[in-house]
Amino acid sequence: MMQQKPIILNKKDYVVIQQAVSTEVCDLLADYANFKAAIKPNIKKDGLKNVHREYGDPLMELLLGKLTPLIEEATGLALWPTLAFYYTYKNGNELTKHKDRSSCQIVAGLCIGADEAFKKEHGTWPLILDVEGKSESIALGYGDILVFKGHETVHWREVFKGAWFVSAIFAYVDKNGPFAFQKFDQRQSLGKPHVGMFHWLYGSFKGLLKQRFYNKRKKAAYDEIGHL
Ligand SMILES: [Fe+2]
Repeated sequence: MMQQKPIILNKKDYVVIQQAVSTEVCDLLADYANFKAAIKPNIKKDGLKNVHREYGDPLMELLLGKLTPLIEEATGLALWPTLAFYYTYKNGNELTKHKDRSSCQIVAGLCIGADEAFKKEHGTWPLILDVEGKSESIALGYGDILVFKGHETVHWREVFKGAWFVSAIFAYVDKNGPFAFQKFDQRQSLGKPHVGMFHWLYGSFKGLLKQRFYNKRKKAAYDEIGHL
């Protein structure tokens, strides 16, 4: 999957992993994404209107699992993989400002490919993060990954000027964090279909409530011991 050892660059609010995925694998993934977009487009009228995107695609979810140790190394956290999404952007598409849901506590965004003319003229298509009120434009090479806190950080992309661009996100939660219950995005395993928004919201509500109860009990036990 990798050509050589990836280079992990730690910034204050995000991590860049250079050469995380080889050119051959990226080329295959780009062809695969364009092929799927052509034969069965999945386009909705939301913040990503006119962008073919797919949740839980088996090949991308396989990669999600395989990338886990690398993302753990980059973040220093023990992680549960939650979900993979890939996107096939076309001319004029943009990604409006947003934060991701809690299953995307840690997002690893892989820059996969673009048409040759776009690469020649513009190089790559940056993802922009709002870092403490300042916009930080991050231009990744093809095969590079940007790791950031998707649930906390506002992020977006300006209008795309090329013919096509393919990227994917691989999302994780901290095994010891408040969103650990989002393991596999509440599915029985990776690769399964989405559980449905109603089920997901109910599961998230229950998970957060449990977490709060657990923290209260932990605090109570700690106070008790403190008084002995
Ligand atoms: Fe996002």
